[in-house]
Amino acid sequence: MILENDFSFFDWEYLQLEKPTDIYVKKLSNMKEQFIDNSVVLKILSSADLVLYKVEKFEPEKGKGNLIFSVTSLYPGTVGREYFFTQGHYHQNDFAEIYICLKGKGLLLLKDKNNEQVYNFEKGSISHINSNFAHRVVNIGDEMLKFISVYNVDAGFDYEKVIKEGGFSTKIVKSENSKSYKIETL
Ligand code: F6R
Ligand code: MN
Repeated sequence: MILENDFSFFDWEYLQLEKPTDIYVKKLSNMKEQFIDNSVVLKILSSADLVLYKVEKFEPEKGKGNLIFSVTSLYPGTVGREYFFTQGHYHQNDFAEIYICLKGKGLLLLKDKNNEQVYNFEKGSISHINSNFAHRVVNIGDEMLKFISVYNVDAGFDYEKVIKEGGFSTKIVKSENSKSYKIETL
């Protein structure tokens, strides 16, 4: 039997998912502790909250073995010197994930307990993220960065483990002349 609900539509012109089953945003207030400069975070929050990214999901079926397709739209911008990024997580269960960048210029940070690595992640990049690595995307461009994720419904999100390990120690900040980025390690 073919299930109607197993179909959605992706608009390649506007890079937008039609019929998402869920949409959420993450704001600066949800990720306060993740940024280097807490005084800048508090200053911004004292006047307004910032939407850092939006996630649209297509999750037709919850049952074992099924997949989720999602599109993340990560705004351009900085908090102080630090470029906007996704929070980043480990998967709770042993499932890998595919990230495909549709638009923009970014970096993909991967971490495990002992190491961190930085990869270019821009329009056209495809990354197979091994289940052992926490993953975060940073927008280093001046336009919206959009990427697709495809992952198992049972992958789960473990944000706590990243926090317990002290977070990502790789920080992506504006260079002194503000013309490019530089990588700092805490
Ligand atoms: C799912 C996945 C992505 C992210 C999304 C938001 O496993 O990696 O769909 O969930 O890009 O990032 P986080 O979840 O780190 O806030
Ligand atoms: Mn993931």
